[in-house]
Amino acid sequence: MEQSLSAADLVVRRFSNKDLAQIRQALIDVHADAYANAMDDEFNQHFPWFVDHWGGNPDFDCVIAYDGGEAVAFAYGAPSTAYREWWREHLDPAPEKSRTFSYSELAVRTKWRKTGTAELVTRALLDERDEDLVVLLVDTEHPRVQSMYESWGFRRVGQRQPFPDSPVYAVMLAELPLAGGVRD
Ligand SMILES: CC(C)(COP(=O)(O)OP(=O)(O)OC[C@H]1O[C@@H](n2cnc3c(N)ncnc32)[C@H](O)[C@@H]1OP(=O)(O)O)[C@@H](O)C(=O)NCCC(=O)NCCS
Repeated sequence: MEQSLSAADLVVRRFSNKDLAQIRQALIDVHADAYANAMDDEFNQHFPWFVDHWGGNPDFDCVIAYDGGEAVAFAYGAPSTAYREWWREHLDPAPEKSRTFSYSELAVRTKWRKTGTAELVTRALLDERDEDLVVLLVDTEHPRVQSMYESWGFRRVGQRQPFPDSPVYAVMLAELPLAGGVRD
């Protein structure tokens, strides 16, 4: 009988901009697996460009979950530029405390879905952040993914399409620390 997979068995490691060369291929491989049924979409094929763009940010912050030597999931982002946060055009007045972390990307290998791994890497990434807020974009055609973020305390504040060939995204915002975390 196949052994059931558990996020508790994974080892989470943290990486910065200096580690990009070391982790770049692992991020691309996990992404290709997670989006295997959507890689005919040209936007998804641009992922290596986004890895280099985000990973090139000196404040890039990334966690990867490993099953032994294999990377099975990752979460990454970087601090938002003040006054250019993704939520800025949707909230008036702006929140009083507005230092924001942009949570850019989350992906879990298909084999590891529904094991708590998405929440594991999300909390590992965000629990160490000292910003007031976290913002992310989620495809409006993926309402179940949106529900997953809502279950962690995110709320939808608007929608945007950052690139002409990108999906239309819901803009989702949460206060840090996330509810239900170890700092509660
Ligand atoms: C999103 C993700 C990290 C969640 O992993 P998980 O916690 O193990 O949860 P699941 O895979 O069960 O996904 C949660 C729900 O979202 C749905 N979902 C996940 N990825 C989806 C996608 N790319 N498109 C549409 N729906 C998706 C699942 O069907 C599931 O719905 P259900 O609970 O009603 O069955 C993982 O599914 C993944 O890596 N997906 C591809 C990459 C992605 O969409 N990342 C999020 C970018 S905002």
